[in-house]
Amino acid sequence: MENKCRAKITGIGMYLPEKVITNKHLEASVDTSDEWIRSRTGIEERRVVEEGVTCSDLGARAALMAMEHAMVTSQDIDLIIVATLTPDMVWPSTACLIQEKIGANNAAAYDLSAGCTGFIYALATATQFVETGFYKNVLVIGAEVMSKIVNWEDRNTCILFGDGAGAVVLQPSQDSTGILANYLGSDGRGAHLLKQPAGGSSLPPTYQTIDDKLHTIYMNGNEVFKFAVRVMGEASLKVLEIAGVDKEEVDLLIPHQANMRIVESAIKRLNLSPEKVVVNLNKYGNMSSASIPVALYEAYMNQKICEGQKILLVGFGAGLTWGATLIQW
Ligand code: ACO
Repeated sequence: MENKCRAKITGIGMYLPEKVITNKHLEASVDTSDEWIRSRTGIEERRVVEEGVTCSDLGARAALMAMEHAMVTSQDIDLIIVATLTPDMVWPSTACLIQEKIGANNAAAYDLSAGCTGFIYALATATQFVETGFYKNVLVIGAEVMSKIVNWEDRNTCILFGDGAGAVVLQPSQDSTGILANYLGSDGRGAHLLKQPAGGSSLPPTYQTIDDKLHTIYMNGNEVFKFAVRVMGEASLKVLEIAGVDKEEVDLLIPHQANMRIVESAIKRLNLSPEKVVVNLNKYGNMSSASIPVALYEAYMNQKICEGQKILLVGFGAGLTWGATLIQW
């Protein structure tokens, strides 16, 4: 196969809203405690947007930062893929709204829905366009305003999520560095475990759907937890197998940031030392498809990422979906 040009991350950016909601704040509105949330999830606080701030606002800020880092202009961008489950509207796509905000007039743009695995799915999709030579400058964005779809009266879910956005620019690699392998999986039989039931065409908005809080997150936490523990390890090992890389060669793991106990299960399965794992869920909670690119950005800025390293991204989410990407930095 090997005349193929690899796709490479050449720019990274992120944007987080300033407003912080601590576990203590949540104690005032639901029957929970800082101690329960920390011990069961590892989360200490999360960011949420101010009134009127949208998913495309966050995504555009992250995108501009990634473009500056990659030294590409908005006119250079050929394609924008936005992974989100909290789009500004059902349609048009948030990708088109971001396109307008950043002035990327030469780009094609579309959204992709794969729950919290969205960024991995978007990265895998963008990889194909770059590897085949179809596009040269692709923006991959994970952006979420989870605070808008959280039921703030439901202690089972409101403690888990936060808002934010991360973005990367993908370009053809000039050498052997770049994305070595992608692996994606889904199982629609688990679609009912994690969903926002109303607002689509099966349950359009009515007074009843609003009264029943069907426009907010429904989650079977225990089942999602068991699924996540299983697939985080499996997906990691699968992408390593596809790339022909041993687990001992992994320098850095960037897992989806949902629950520290889920992250720990992946660490155990890969037999990694904890300093090889990027964790920021304590500060931001689960930002769905923004979690992995924000963690990637922070790892890069904190000099945890160096040239030549093998970096493993792995996630799971609604759908059910899961996936992993192996990068040679
Ligand atoms: N504070 C205090 N008590 C709580 C809280 C809370 N915030 N939430 C639940 N409890 C209670 C429950 O009501 C239950 O009480 P009971 O025994 O009297 O019925 C008890 O705590 C235990 O509840 P469990 O659900 O068994 O708690 P568990 O240890 O499993 O943790 C959690 C729950 C954190 C939700 C866990 O199951 C989890 O992390 N699941 C995965 C969630 C996830 O990763 N979602 C990703 C979404 S991905 C996407 O695409 C959006």
